[in-house]
Amino acid sequence: MASASELLEFATALAREAGALAAKRRREGVSIAGSKSSLVDIVTLADQEVERLVRARLAAERPGDGFLGEESGAGLSESGLTWVVDPIDGTVNYAYGLPNWAVSIAVVEGEPDPRTWRAIAGVVYSPLTDELFSAAVGAGATLNGSPIEAAPAVDLAGALVGTGFGYLSEQRESDADLLRSLIAEVRDIRRFGAASLDLCAVAAGRLNVYYERGLNPWDHAAGGLIATEAGALVTGANGKPATEELIVAGHPDVVAAMLPKLRTRRETT
Ligand code: IPD
Ligand code: CA
Repeated sequence: MASASELLEFATALAREAGALAAKRRREGVSIAGSKSSLVDIVTLADQEVERLVRARLAAERPGDGFLGEESGAGLSESGLTWVVDPIDGTVNYAYGLPNWAVSIAVVEGEPDPRTWRAIAGVVYSPLTDELFSAAVGAGATLNGSPIEAAPAVDLAGALVGTGFGYLSEQRESDADLLRSLIAEVRDIRRFGAASLDLCAVAAGRLNVYYERGLNPWDHAAGGLIATEAGALVTGANGKPATEELIVAGHPDVVAAMLPKLRTRRETT
């Protein structure tokens, strides 16, 4: 069986190849292929083509492994490992020519379910800034090969907070309510538009804390491991693992201070 560092090496090469293809297609011009969960949840031809490339490479090199991708769904695992892939995270930025988007590739052990999986290796590659964040379990996190660490503890009043909004309008109203209640209590809020890079920003000490509701597994599989390996706590609601319900990442003390502020109405009533 391949070691975590061998899997990371393969994931790194794959993310670079996929990122180069996405950047090339971006230079050629981007057309929106359709929308998914709602009108604002778009997909471009490049998302689909990049996922096809990643899936084909994996099928050739690691045929027994499973696959879970944003654009083409699941393929069962025989080896116990599954690759969890977002070919372009930050698709709206990509479509608008904003640079903050990334290829996110993780390999997890067990069912490809964030409640139970064990992430083994993860890579988040941002082609336009040429930043490659990566981690293998137990081996720390790096940015372009140099070790990175999450920021030390701060009070919430001094915390730079990253977040994102789901694509469904009811979810967005509730996200906006939550933001309204937080904004006066923290240093400031950032919404960069790619969850994988938000988690890497926590890993690199560029954000004190990040939270979001409504993420899909491929949005946080790689970034979650990278933030964890950089010393951040990555968790969900009430001590549960990070899932669609909630992800919070940051220094453990900052996460502890944030969690009570993030209780959903459903939890508090
Ligand atoms: C989205 C981005 C965004 C986050 C959304 C995600 P996509 O992924 O990560 O920052 O707020 O929840 O769905 O659609 O660009 O791959
Ligand atoms: Ca995507």
